[in-house]
Amino acid sequence: MKGCDGSVLLDGSAAGPSEKSAIPNLTLRKQAFKIVDDLRRRVHKECGRIVSCSDIVALSARDSVFLTGGPDYAVPLGRRDGLNFATEADTFANLVGPSANTTTVLVRFAAKKLDTVDSVALSGGHTIGISHCPAFTDRLYPTQDPTMDKTFANKLKVVCPAADTNSTTDLDIRSPNKFDNKYFVDLMNRQGLFTSDQDLYTDKRTRGIVTDFAVDQELFFEKFAIAMVKMGQVDLLTGTQGEIRANCSVRNSDNYMLLKEVVELEVEEMGLSMF
Ligand code: HEM
Repeated sequence: MKGCDGSVLLDGSAAGPSEKSAIPNLTLRKQAFKIVDDLRRRVHKECGRIVSCSDIVALSARDSVFLTGGPDYAVPLGRRDGLNFATEADTFANLVGPSANTTTVLVRFAAKKLDTVDSVALSGGHTIGISHCPAFTDRLYPTQDPTMDKTFANKLKVVCPAADTNSTTDLDIRSPNKFDNKYFVDLMNRQGLFTSDQDLYTDKRTRGIVTDFAVDQELFFEKFAIAMVKMGQVDLLTGTQGEIRANCSVRNSDNYMLLKEVVELEVEEMGLSMF
């Protein structure tokens, strides 16, 4: 949560809830966690336990961007997985909510050493994917946000007829499954889904960057790649810090299967039988 240490992958423990079960992360897709551990299993089968879950997440993000039409970029590797659970309070303190304005977005990103251009470029990650209604219905009910295009708002009201429905809609109405610069065209047409998106076009500090990205996809791709590499280096564990998890959702010290494997190996090395 505080950095790229794979803490969001950890299941909760008897000691308490984890970052994964904190409210803002409940919409993270279960399938994504399965895919990360499936990749981990395949990599470890080929190479042994030398690639961390946090590196696998960074590489998966890179490949998802490229495979949906975005830029290809090199990802520095060598991250280690964290041993600490992030608390729910850590999660709220470090994440930006969808109702945040540009000032909050810039302050929170700056705390991670990401500048204004990085913040706008990374928000462009909303060029793909979906959102559940509760993340934006505050812009529809009880009063409609005047910065939202009226036709767009009416369409959203059909998808989310009440303030609390759990339906979903696309983040980028122009090209929801393609990694391109249309998200910035959406913002210029007042069709950004979240306040945190739309306010980037309202705020004078970021408006010019939104326009630049809307008219120049190559520029957006270049700045996005730079910002992803920077974000992927926030508060890293390297060298002998942390560990390489044998299951991305469990710390090795809590992993009974790993313990059994290690004991079996030691017994085998000693030429003994377990039975
Ligand atoms: C200002 C910072 C950000 C805020 C407030 C924010 C907020 C959100 C919210 C509320 C959702 C919808 C979750 C749901 O209801 O299912 C979402 C989805 C998404 N966000 Fe962000 N986000 C931010 C930054 C980022 C960044 C930096 C990236 C990547 C570079 C990103 C990529 C995505 C993607 C790909 C989805 C779609 C997930 C899916 O389809 O399941 N977001 N974001």
